[in-house]
Amino acid sequence: MTGETEAVYVLDRIGILCTVIVGFWILKFFIRVIYNNFLSVALRINAVNLKETGKWAVVTGATDGIGKAYAEALAKKKFNVVLISRTQARLDDVAGGISEKYKVETKTIAADFTNRTDIYYNIDKQLNGLDIGVLVNNVGMSYPFPEYFLDLKNKDETYENIIRVNIFSVTNMCKIVLPGMTERKRGVIINISSSAAQIPSPLLTVYAATKSYVEKFTEDLSTEYSRLGITIQCLLPGYVATNMSKIKKSTWMAPSPAKYVDEAIATIGVRGHTNGYFPHTLLVGVVHFLDSISPRLSRWLIVRTMTNIRGRAIRKQIH
Ligand SMILES: NC(=O)c1ccc[n+]([C@@H]2O[C@H](COP(=O)([O-])OP(=O)(O)OC[C@H]3O[C@@H](n4cnc5c(N)ncnc54)[C@H](OP(=O)(O)O)[C@@H]3O)[C@@H](O)[C@H]2O)c1
Ligand SMILES: *[C@@H]1O[C@H](CO)[C@@H](O)[C@H](O)[C@H]1NC(C)=O
Ligand SMILES: *[C@@H]1O[C@H](CO)[C@@H](O)[C@H](O)[C@H]1NC(C)=O
Ligand SMILES: *[C@@H]1O[C@H](CO)[C@@H](O)[C@H](O)[C@H]1NC(C)=O
Repeated sequence: MTGETEAVYVLDRIGILCTVIVGFWILKFFIRVIYNNFLSVALRINAVNLKETGKWAVVTGATDGIGKAYAEALAKKKFNVVLISRTQARLDDVAGGISEKYKVETKTIAADFTNRTDIYYNIDKQLNGLDIGVLVNNVGMSYPFPEYFLDLKNKDETYENIIRVNIFSVTNMCKIVLPGMTERKRGVIINISSSAAQIPSPLLTVYAATKSYVEKFTEDLSTEYSRLGITIQCLLPGYVATNMSKIKKSTWMAPSPAKYVDEAIATIGVRGHTNGYFPHTLLVGVVHFLDSISPRLSRWLIVRTMTNIRGRAIRKQIH
């Protein structure tokens, strides 16, 4: 062999090796995506048999959107349901519909999570003695529309309300429900965070930060209590077509609450931390990928999107 053909031969081998390594890496990536998002859920790896966790499910913010969809999905699985939200008339309406359709018991608690005085004493009293298997910490509050931190109208009151509804509610509801669950050594808690906690969320800064609290709280609490047989899941939805997101028509990326919950509920026990719906995972992945290439570009894009939504909302208010 001449020196030249030897060099070509070596380069050739290095080329093949690199191709194999990169190919393997890409394959591993796709296998992981498929396993995490589809296979593990379809095969119900570590899935919780919900019905064995208890007789009752408690849902906060239960009369609309994702909370209502959870209440219905759990009633369909033959749980009795406790519904908590502000408006008694809507509570009665939803509770009546659920008990008639699914032949289960219901109980309603009217409470406003922005209330400055202690609402939890009453909630605790009403839940006392119930065999609670599932708690869905769903109630949440966001800005009326994306806005700069200092420019939000009524910002003192609004920020305090957001923190009360998104942070105090989760912390206190867990404090009320966990003692019974640890005694019975079974139970599921679902804390609803948001994909806003995972990706840059300028102009929704306080909302996104409270959802980060929920994410961190859930992760560490789950570590503390999994040894007692309790499953704690952090769910991070992207856009769902509800009153909060003001999306009226559901799409593939922003599904209806029922479609969203149908997918998310199958992940309980399988995934401790999940968007619950593959298109949302995909979107977060794309934003992270963009962010890893150019944080400036991704942030610029998001700020632009947010200021567009803000501009439209402000124009709508004026007209
Ligand atoms: N929709 C999305 O795109 C999206 C995305 C990511 C995360 N999330 C999260 O998902 C959760 C549910 O959102 P959603 O879009 O389903 O909301 P939604 O459709 O607006 O429903 C809110 C529910 O909570 C109740 N509620 C609102 N404020 C309350 C308060 N201060 N005290 C007690 N109850 C209250 C409402 O009933 P009353 O008005 O009668 O009280 C209603 O039942 C939230 O934690 C949200 O942050 C939503
Ligand atoms: C706040 O909660 C307290 C205690 O549950 C209740 O007596 C009061 O009526 C509530 N206030 C409002 C404005 O909802
Ligand atoms: C949900 O959050 C509450 C408080 O923020 C915490 O006590 C509880 O353990 C969490 N549950 C899960 C399943 O993470
Ligand atoms: C939708 O949200 C607005 C506030 O953003 C509230 O005033 C209104 O009552 C809500 N409608 C329903 C049906 O929940």
